[in-house]
Amino acid sequence: MRRLDPALLLDATQRAQRYIDALPERSVPPDAPAVARLAQWVGRPLPDGPLPPEQVLAELDEFAGPATMASAGPRFFGFVVGGALPASLAASWLANAWDQNAFMHASSPAAALIEQTVLGWSLDLFDLPRECAGAFTTGATLANLTGLAAARHALLERAGWSAEERGLFGAPEIPVFASEESHPTVRKALGVLGLGRARVTSVATDDQGRIRADALPRLTAPSIVCSQAGNVNGGASDPFDALADWCSASGSWLHVDGAFGLWAAATPSLRDQVSGIERADSWATDAHKWLNVPYDSGIAFVKDANALRETMSFDAAYLPVDGPREPFHYSIEASRRARGIEIWAALRSLGRSGVEALIDGCCRHARRFAAGFEAAGFSVLNDVVLNQVVVSFGDEAENTRVIAEVQREGVCWCGPTRWRGQPAMRISVSSWATEEEDVDRSLASILRCARG
Ligand SMILES: Cc1ncc(COP(=O)(O)O)c(C=O)c1O
Repeated sequence: MRRLDPALLLDATQRAQRYIDALPERSVPPDAPAVARLAQWVGRPLPDGPLPPEQVLAELDEFAGPATMASAGPRFFGFVVGGALPASLAASWLANAWDQNAFMHASSPAAALIEQTVLGWSLDLFDLPRECAGAFTTGATLANLTGLAAARHALLERAGWSAEERGLFGAPEIPVFASEESHPTVRKALGVLGLGRARVTSVATDDQGRIRADALPRLTAPSIVCSQAGNVNGGASDPFDALADWCSASGSWLHVDGAFGLWAAATPSLRDQVSGIERADSWATDAHKWLNVPYDSGIAFVKDANALRETMSFDAAYLPVDGPREPFHYSIEASRRARGIEIWAALRSLGRSGVEALIDGCCRHARRFAAGFEAAGFSVLNDVVLNQVVVSFGDEAENTRVIAEVQREGVCWCGPTRWRGQPAMRISVSSWATEEEDVDRSLASILRCARG
């Protein structure tokens, strides 16, 4: 029998350990020569012959490692990326060695059972209706698509139409409403589902990007309403109680994109910000953002379990009809990796109190950033209610200059945004690895660049 040389995985471990050890001190973005060197090396045609695995690894480490962004480290503050918790990273390696197909019980009892537990734990953690069904997705884009597909199914079924069987040609129209501040991937999901990007009615928001409860249009027919926990810039959440009242009067479906903001529901200090969130019909979140599991990992929850199952399920002669929860009845994908294992490991290692500490800690760091900017005379444009800070250094040209300079210094990484029409820099604190000292070092670098 062919065997894996144990030296190979040890070599991978040592290389990974060296990479991780260097993270706190290396430049957060890779330097341009490293990227150029990789581009030149990796762009070669497919070689004719084989290469021993230890050399494959050595080449990868030598050329690609230096061209990575240090987003696994403590001072990457772009795009709500998060790092990878030790237990989750290690579990991911182990699960990769297991190479499980999380399609169904028969293909992996371990993956199916662990995912079921993770669903139950997550519903407890977020205090969502325990009857929800769930699906493990590649991220929030697919989790939003999953929730919205179930919404489409449920509303059309009530109108006597099966979207899955008959498609949307000739179907009754479903009105769709979405916050004008919805993440663009929500409109993308609506487009993919045939609900149209352009026919969405945008709902007005306030100065923090929350849907304005006083500006809700009249709902004349059962509709899909897309709301948000955690504005992608400022971090504020929509008023879910008001939205749930608005939806229930017309039999509408309330969907929440909580890619990172749903995690506010997991800690008592922030729960008020999302009060009423449990009254929605579907929720999307990412585990690869604030829970700090490796990419790619999102979860969709749908209160009407049948709606999700009828949307996603399919039959084949070789597949079971009855029995325990089969993951493929609920997911867009059939075969897929067992991403629930990493989520389980993260939750098992943190426990409820560890999740609270992770979320609260990131928010504390965000407030420290904001206080530092304000003390230095710069404008923080958002109310820092979560892990997001939007800071402006002046006009467009000045923000562009400061951000380019910060990225060039490499102590930390932050990107540009526009907030309520103003150019700004966006900081998202979402890594378990970030400590107060990292905030102070980053602040010092940003202020040095801002002062020119
Ligand atoms: C609010 C929000 N929704 C959706 C997404 C898309 O998530 P993903 O990239 O995991 O698909 C993001 C990503 O930043 C987000 O912040």
